[in-house]
Amino acid sequence: MIDPFGRRISYLRVSVTDRCDLRCVYCMAEHMTFLPKAEVLTLEELDRLCGAFIGLGVRRIRLTGGEPLVRKDVMRLVRSLGERIGPDGLQELTLTTNGTQLTKHAPDLAAAGVRRINVSLDSLDPGRFRALTRWGDIDKTLDGIFAAKAAGLQVKINAVAMKGVNEDEFDRMVVWCGEHGFDLTLIETMPMGEVDASRVDQYLPLSVVRDRLRAHWTLQETDYATGGPARYWVVKETGRRLGFITPMTHNFCESCNRVRLTCTGTLFMCLGQEDAADLRSVLRDPSVDEDGLRQAIEDAIARKPKGHDFIIDRRHERPAVGRHMSMTGG
Ligand code: GTP
Ligand code: 5AD
Ligand code: SF4
Repeated sequence: MIDPFGRRISYLRVSVTDRCDLRCVYCMAEHMTFLPKAEVLTLEELDRLCGAFIGLGVRRIRLTGGEPLVRKDVMRLVRSLGERIGPDGLQELTLTTNGTQLTKHAPDLAAAGVRRINVSLDSLDPGRFRALTRWGDIDKTLDGIFAAKAAGLQVKINAVAMKGVNEDEFDRMVVWCGEHGFDLTLIETMPMGEVDASRVDQYLPLSVVRDRLRAHWTLQETDYATGGPARYWVVKETGRRLGFITPMTHNFCESCNRVRLTCTGTLFMCLGQEDAADLRSVLRDPSVDEDGLRQAIEDAIARKPKGHDFIIDRRHERPAVGRHMSMTGG
């Protein structure tokens, strides 16, 4: 699938649920209304949609949420997608998670063919972690992370960089990730959905953070790329990769390879735009066959916009995109 800007679409992010057991302050408001179950696709419907995308050239699927591992029986979907890994099918099945359910699921994820996962961890301080997630217990997440490592999964830690919140912790995180063999990615906050905090107050440009880190660490160039938005360096002193996801200071839309499916079967062609295609009604229409479904996906890709228009400043206090990140899992 090639979009109107010549970009090959080979990566699908699938949000299997909008629900989460935490409420990270930059991601959700404290009181969220979640989707009624009837609107949510069954695991079989999600699997069928993923199959159609793979048939059209998708080679990587990342499951997201909300928190993907709070979806009931989600491992059934993981196993069935794992069976789609092969020379003409999926090359990689991954997951982005908050880690709270990993002690339970890590071995099954590995057995199903998952090789690497990304875990959100914005602070190593228990009190701060609790405040950031509103009630999270850091030990549960850390136990999950170590269970994933023990199961042989490669772990990447995601931390959203926030001014005055966790900006004093990045050196410590580099050390901690180095000690445990994890890569680390820092992320600029994106204005998606109304949250209880001011994005303007919290926004921290990663260009600033990178310069600060360079004062203590040797950041070496690397060719490593996942096809995703992060630009990576290797921290010479720890040997681990350090990634920066910079939608605000360094736009990467030109090389975008991805689209995202919500748990209701809505396809968002861009994280930072509202335009979307309703694949659920196509999927549930008995008069539409596999060719029809494929055509609906191709029609949607033909509408993929050039990129996001995220802005964070005082004149734009309202978020560029009304939906929360938890609808599409990033
Ligand atoms: P890989 O590329 O598969 O390694 O993963 P990733 O880093 O893209 O995935 P992850 O789910 O860990 O997302 C990390 C951050 O990147 C989240 O804040 C996402 O919202 C953000 N992100 C992922 N894809 C895009 C994108 O296409 N555009 C923008 N602006 N942000 C994205
Ligand atoms: N801006 C940037 N990243 C966000 N995430 C959630 N909300 C936002 C936001 N507004 C991150 C989570 C998780 C990933 C899927 O997206 O921390 O690591
Ligand atoms: Fe939940 Fe992830 Fe959003 Fe935090 S960032 S509230 S863990 S979906």
